[in-house]
Amino acid sequence: MRGNPKFARRKELMKKTDNVIKKGDLYYPGEEFKKKALVSDASVYKKALEDPVKFWEKLAEELVWTKKWDQGFVHKPPHFEWFVGGELNITENALDENLKKRKDKIALIWEPEPTDQKQKTFTFGELYQEVNKFANCLKKLDVKKGDRVGIYLPMIPEAIIAMLGCARIGAVHAVVFSAFSPKALQLRLQDTEAEILITADGYFRRGEIVNLKQNADAALSDENTSQNDREKRGTSVKKVVVVKRAGNEVRMQSGRDLWWDDLVGKESDECQPVPVGSEDLLFILYTSGSTGKPKGCCHVAGGYAVQAKFTAKWIFDFKENDIFWSTADVGWITGHTYSCYGPLLSGTTVVIYEGSPDWPSPERWCQIIEKYGITTFYTAPTAIRMFKKYGTDLVRKYKLATLRLIGSVGEPIDETAWDWYFNEVGKGNCLLLDTWWQTETGGILITSLPGIGPFKPSFAGLPFPGVKVDILGEDGKSLPAGKEGDLVVLPPFSPGLLRNIYKNPKKYLETYWSKFGSKVYLTSDGAYKDENGLVRILGRVDDVIKVAGHRLSTGEMESVIEKHPNIAESAVIGIPDEIKGEVPVAFIVVKNTNKPADDIKTEIINLLRKEIGPFSSLKTVYLVKDLPKTRSGKIMRRVLRKLLGGEELGDLSTLANPECVEEIKKVV
Ligand code: WTA
Repeated sequence: MRGNPKFARRKELMKKTDNVIKKGDLYYPGEEFKKKALVSDASVYKKALEDPVKFWEKLAEELVWTKKWDQGFVHKPPHFEWFVGGELNITENALDENLKKRKDKIALIWEPEPTDQKQKTFTFGELYQEVNKFANCLKKLDVKKGDRVGIYLPMIPEAIIAMLGCARIGAVHAVVFSAFSPKALQLRLQDTEAEILITADGYFRRGEIVNLKQNADAALSDENTSQNDREKRGTSVKKVVVVKRAGNEVRMQSGRDLWWDDLVGKESDECQPVPVGSEDLLFILYTSGSTGKPKGCCHVAGGYAVQAKFTAKWIFDFKENDIFWSTADVGWITGHTYSCYGPLLSGTTVVIYEGSPDWPSPERWCQIIEKYGITTFYTAPTAIRMFKKYGTDLVRKYKLATLRLIGSVGEPIDETAWDWYFNEVGKGNCLLLDTWWQTETGGILITSLPGIGPFKPSFAGLPFPGVKVDILGEDGKSLPAGKEGDLVVLPPFSPGLLRNIYKNPKKYLETYWSKFGSKVYLTSDGAYKDENGLVRILGRVDDVIKVAGHRLSTGEMESVIEKHPNIAESAVIGIPDEIKGEVPVAFIVVKNTNKPADDIKTEIINLLRKEIGPFSSLKTVYLVKDLPKTRSGKIMRRVLRKLLGGEELGDLSTLANPECVEEIKKVV
């Protein structure tokens, strides 16, 4: 083996183990790491659980409040409030505080996708100025505290600036992922009744320019509302602010559309932060639930700020020299909490990247890590599986020597992907944080702390201090170690947990506070604990699927498919996929047509891309005569899942139409 460079490299790597120690099947921080860690005393867990409200209050005291709260936690099930009576502005904490302490430190680094374009950096001082200028523009556009502002931007610095600009004046941002279709954007704008939309001309994705402005225009036009839609037409948007990013030609509607640069150029870089109530809305972020319509998760200023800051700081163990890269788009909750608020509140430098991590080559992400000396890398299992597939040799060309922590989020990470990420990216010398949380929770709720541990492959770990979770059986009783059940969060929950579903309190109650009563938050994830109390997440137990980490609702997809005039009914299910984790497939029953099956399949796939976005693409469409149903007419998706997985179907006696199963077997 002598002389084999691969082997030599492995040996070199094997020596470097001061960050991590392995004991049995558990991993712990090494002595050096532990010594320097922000939190390394395991008694933090016990103390926090003795009085979680006091624990969070103590953390909250480290933020700047314009008015101190009167009560830490108030519970009126299913509603609850944190830091009641308090007032603050999250940007005063993320910007003004850093201006005092680290004005010239880099706050934000932006890496464009094209390799011949230059990165942009903003110091805390510069970011402060840009946010203030944009906040002043919003004021000129007559945006007031509590008004909703739609943000439909790619991963460019203006996305962060726009969010912070809204927060600066107490306006509520509603970011919509830039790959969402015009129709999906329209629905969200209608729900929020936003009068202002911030968008861009275009952006680069896999070497091409995506014309984002065209999508925004389509979302704002009445014509985009399909004829058989009973939904409201158009939106309330009156002004559109357009960032010039890609330089592609766009149509600017006079009186409505304004260039970002023209507006910002005239504004002062001072804007006083507007104090907002702790329980006032900071942002709305839409997510997919079990039913057809996306839900606007309501996150409030005070609790979210506290949770974003301290989960980021403690979990990623932020030190002054850290450079943090979270690969998620700002259109998802991970982008909100860990590319914007969490690190900035902690005074940490963040990197954001515009494009695809494997563009122009699969080495791009390694190059970005090395270019900026990333110390903490946070990504999704899908990306890990993709890079693993590109080949281990590729990542072995890079030392990635600056990394000290690596993290995973968004889907369960199986042991093979865990091992590869730990050994090849972390080079066996970085703790791997598998972090569990949801759009609803606002910040990470389960992952062991790096200065304490333990870590175990494919387990998310321990709940964050002060967070009480449990695994319940169908009877609502707590289950012992090893038993699978529903993962729930118990009072006082966490300060950042959603307070409502925008304009839909009924849905809030039904979705989260019904199965086990109004004092138990239902996550809709299955899980179990091991003998050490480490939590293993098994995945969703409702009709939500995670496709390449993107959260999609099979119910929402079905309601789109059923808009097609020739579809009588449909069932969408997720099936396992080597890279994406899960992918959707549809079973459809066709009516009144002699159209060729292939045409219908293509129309369905295109319809979903148009109504939701390209990431909702179906892997396969099966045309069937009937779907398996119970006597009460409920579609048995479980039977379809088993049919595709080639599993035993078990007892079919509850089916009203067992004969359809044989028919379906012929097409799958
Ligand atoms: C899943 C993403 C396993 C889970 C922050 C959850 C995970 C849903 C993990 C929320 C993890 C998230 N291990 N599964 N570490 N993290 N999930 O709203 O099913 O996009 O309910 O938030 O992702 O997805 P969302």
